[in-house]
Amino acid sequence: MNVQISDVSQSNGKGGLPKIDITTHSSSAEIYLHGAHVTKFQKTGEPPVLFMSQSSRFQSGSPIRGGIPVIFPWFGAREGHPAHGFARLQDWELTGGSDVSNSSVAVRFALPPSDATKEFPAFAAEYFVTVSDSLKCELRITNKSQQNFTFEDCLHTYFQVGDINQISVTGLKGAAYLDQMENFARKTEANDQIKINCETDRIYLDTESTVEILDQKLKRRIRIAKSGSRSTVLWNPWIEKSKRMPDFGDDEFHRMVCVESCNAAENKRTLAPGETSSLKIDLSTAPL
Ligand code: BG6
Repeated sequence: MNVQISDVSQSNGKGGLPKIDITTHSSSAEIYLHGAHVTKFQKTGEPPVLFMSQSSRFQSGSPIRGGIPVIFPWFGAREGHPAHGFARLQDWELTGGSDVSNSSVAVRFALPPSDATKEFPAFAAEYFVTVSDSLKCELRITNKSQQNFTFEDCLHTYFQVGDINQISVTGLKGAAYLDQMENFARKTEANDQIKINCETDRIYLDTESTVEILDQKLKRRIRIAKSGSRSTVLWNPWIEKSKRMPDFGDDEFHRMVCVESCNAAENKRTLAPGETSSLKIDLSTAPL
């Protein structure tokens, strides 16, 4: 479909992969069709909200490192399959868009059927991105089959921070989490302000709370509001894992943190025939 929207331009980006650029009077954004992957959201006059690795691959069959990978229909490892599902590895179609107003632009994507999708009950996956002075993303899954469809999904957002040693993450106090650094040990978050000073990989369960990243260096607060998401993943690879990741710079862990809005592990979703799920995030910033 050839979608014409003013303030949206389509071109070939890195690795020759098609992308769209969106400009509004308060912000700009970039989205690759590969993975329906938002690789940039920046408010005019501010540092980017999303972190992008300088070592990211931009090639068919590989995920993009940074921005907002769309994770579906499984989260994490799955034997004999690529990590984090196939949605981030496939090319999505741009199916529509509109200038909601002169300050807001919305675009819509759909995941076309493929060999990978055929393994699952028939479903439709759609992704809606609205760019204004905040960034709103919605992943909608509809069960088109006659049986229940169980899956995990996640908007695996990488945020840019000034210095990992000068941030704290709020909104998760009291939540139970699975600590992936200790073989999924179940723990309870004791801290109102979580500091990150080592490899951190946690799946917080049964929490729909808004999370904030308080960034002392950039003097800003990033607010991650969400709905239709029962889990939050907090991830930073720190020193050794960064070195092991071929598509991530050794020192880049200083400038990023992932706060991922998911339905993962025991919060996986089951849709009855005909049912639709909606996972939404709304990312905004304010001075600290
Ligand atoms: C996080 C996982 O969501 O994604 C981590 O909790 C994982 O365990 C990270 O390392 C990155 O995954 P990938 O597949 O993009 O390297």
